[in-house]
Amino acid sequence: MKIAVPREIRAEETRVALDPESCKKLILLGIEVAVEAGAGALAHFPDQAYLDAGTSLAPDAASLLNSADFVLKVNAPQARPDGTHEVDLIRPGAMLLASLFPTRNLDAMKRMAEQSITAFSTDCIPRTTRAQAMDTLSSQANIMGYKGVLIGAMELPKYYPMFMTAAGTTLPAKVFVIGAGVAGLQAIATAKRLGASVTATDVRPEVKEQIESVGGKYVGIDLKQGASAGGGYATELSAEDKALQAKLLADHCAQVDVVITTALIGGVFAPKLLDETIVKSMKPGSVIVDLGSDGGGNCTLSKLGTTVVVGGVKIVAPLNLPATVPTHASMLFSRNLLNFMTAFWDKEAKGFNLDWADDILKGCAVTHEGKVVHGPTLKALQG
Ligand code: NAI
Repeated sequence: MKIAVPREIRAEETRVALDPESCKKLILLGIEVAVEAGAGALAHFPDQAYLDAGTSLAPDAASLLNSADFVLKVNAPQARPDGTHEVDLIRPGAMLLASLFPTRNLDAMKRMAEQSITAFSTDCIPRTTRAQAMDTLSSQANIMGYKGVLIGAMELPKYYPMFMTAAGTTLPAKVFVIGAGVAGLQAIATAKRLGASVTATDVRPEVKEQIESVGGKYVGIDLKQGASAGGGYATELSAEDKALQAKLLADHCAQVDVVITTALIGGVFAPKLLDETIVKSMKPGSVIVDLGSDGGGNCTLSKLGTTVVVGGVKIVAPLNLPATVPTHASMLFSRNLLNFMTAFWDKEAKGFNLDWADDILKGCAVTHEGKVVHGPTLKALQG
């Protein structure tokens, strides 16, 4: 079997699907690995490191993909600058594994079904203990939480920690984290390590203890209806609960220096939690870091991919934050893909074992045999 790793073409993407170390491990399993020249350059993995690991190098995506059995990517395939589409370059019948976010990338999913590609999406892998090591959502969200806090620190016109100096004492900055999943918990821990006073909220009440275990103080409301959808995902709040939460957020945001939002519904779409009224109630000089930006943004005033200032409040809405930490983001992403490939690699048959009875494989398959087979994607395609 031949695995191919093309260079990512998404704007400002710096990550690569496999680092040289993971290539080496796949080659040891008896798999042939080919990489597009320059694929790891922006993550600081030079071509020579891939050659040293035992891969071959292809000069361009077209020559790489037309003979590949399994394509490993970071992002969903997309249109190329020359007007063709990445999907067109992949051999019909081949398999593909990437973080597809299929409901955000419907056109690519349709094209892959038409091209008879069997595509798996790491962000649809069921959240079971066995699947944890393959979970790119977690490995990349962890980076977002860390980097989001650093952005807040850079933009805030204050220190995070308390300092007692001869010139006087500065009080610790107050950081409020909304959404305490993987990104949120890392944000709490990082802000705490930098000396901030940290509060956090979530709609899944079970996270209270997790917030406290990483040094945050939980602020919450008693929701009238449950918002846990299982697997760590949240559902959208009822209108009554939304109103209760809006009041909590309005009261709390007005008291803090930095708000970091990480809330997602079903791991995909960002609920709008901060509106103009809340932003305007915040202190001038305070900062919002909207880590829900890839899912549409948690703040109605966010300008995705850039920074705006409203009433003295800076709203930063970064897109694809993991790409700003490309070496570690790629290394961890690679390990996730390697763990997936290893779990389904049949050593004797020297092939990928398409075991459709397996909950992981079944859960993350998006297209197969000319059809879209992922429920939420099918539903979104049907409008
Ligand atoms: P996510 O990215 O889907 O959502 C982020 C956070 O936003 C969640 O904690 C969610 O409850 C929260 N949220 C949604 N709507 C909100 C609102 N209106 N207000 C405030 N917060 C809101 O979730 P993530 O970070 O991917 O995972 C959440 C949890 O899932 C983790 O803490 C972990 O316990 C579990 N998990 C389990 C895995 C496994 O067992 N394989 C893998 C990944 C996560």
